[in-house]
Amino acid sequence: MPLLYTDYMNAIVPHCLSPILQPDESGIAQACAILQDEGIVALPTETVYGLAGKALSSVALSKIYEAKNRPANNPLIWHVHSLEKARSLFAYDALSIANKRRLERLARSFWPGPLTIVAQKSSSIDCALATIAVRIPQTAVTREILRRCDFPLAMPSANISTRPSPTKASHVLKTLDGRIDAILDGGDCEGGLESTVIVLGEETIKILRPGLLSAAAIEAALGETIVRTASLEDVLCSPGQAYLHYAPQVQKIALIQADDAAQFWRSDATFIGRTSTIDELARKEGPRPAPALTMALGDTPIFFAKELYQALYAAEKHKERDLVLLTPPSGDEWAAVIDRLSRAAGMR
Ligand code: TXA
Ligand code: MG
Repeated sequence: MPLLYTDYMNAIVPHCLSPILQPDESGIAQACAILQDEGIVALPTETVYGLAGKALSSVALSKIYEAKNRPANNPLIWHVHSLEKARSLFAYDALSIANKRRLERLARSFWPGPLTIVAQKSSSIDCALATIAVRIPQTAVTREILRRCDFPLAMPSANISTRPSPTKASHVLKTLDGRIDAILDGGDCEGGLESTVIVLGEETIKILRPGLLSAAAIEAALGETIVRTASLEDVLCSPGQAYLHYAPQVQKIALIQADDAAQFWRSDATFIGRTSTIDELARKEGPRPAPALTMALGDTPIFFAKELYQALYAAEKHKERDLVLLTPPSGDEWAAVIDRLSRAAGMR
């Protein structure tokens, strides 16, 4: 029997084909049973919802790639519940002393949390790459599922490839309803943006994908500088960075400075920007035409990140209109937000 589900703007999604589980004992037990059986379930994390499947099962992995329509050469992050498990996925003994020390420091400082560490993989893991990406997520219900299953879960973001990542169960339903075995509804994701992906290389530590955790926080924990911009070569070894991402389905998308926004301000284009930038435009240009949708996401990267994907999905309410994204200030703490805005606008 299809379930009713309340959408984020209180519209009703008429039928829901993938069952919705609650974050209680029964929901946890059902999610574990599906995962054990090589099925796939969307789970909440502190960054975005992930689409979980047994990482060691080729059956579950194919289901993830198929449901997401994900390019086969884009590797997945392995999620575990303990540092001990994480160590066992890496070729821990083969890591240099310096990288072992870095791994331990990063794990102590940021796990569970929004950091994904890439390093040489253990020889017991059979996959094409020489490296593996590992993270311990923070959200209690998902850690409990990881603890009970006691096997690693592969978890890409729970959206069809190219669309914005989901920060609510209703976002997951928008693109994956009927394509996955269940969704565990844990409410809104606290962070709203993906984890920071770093690679522990021989010579340098590099950020492959900026994310919720800032480069400055990582440097402070390590006591050394890291490389912040991935080169083309890095992108090729972290293929997720090469694809179109986060794109809402609207007419046209532009990422522009507030100074260039006047012409659009008086059109029915949807606007997304910082509160102070939107307020400043309203002062200079006057009110927007009545049907136009204007979304002010707060002035700090934390608030902006938490609301960004929700705003991109909300913009799809007006598919026939253009979407104007206002550029936030440059600077390290805005790096992940700027990365996602540029990708949404097809500029990377
Ligand atoms: O916050 C997150 O990281 C979320 C939650 C669910 O944990 N997951 C997520 O997964 O964003 P996904 O698949 O959407 O992005 C994973 C990124 C991709 O850019 C992929 O190319 C990269 O991590 N990646 C995975 N394994 C890698 C590896 N061995 N070397 C380099 N990059 C890797
Ligand atoms: Mg993703």
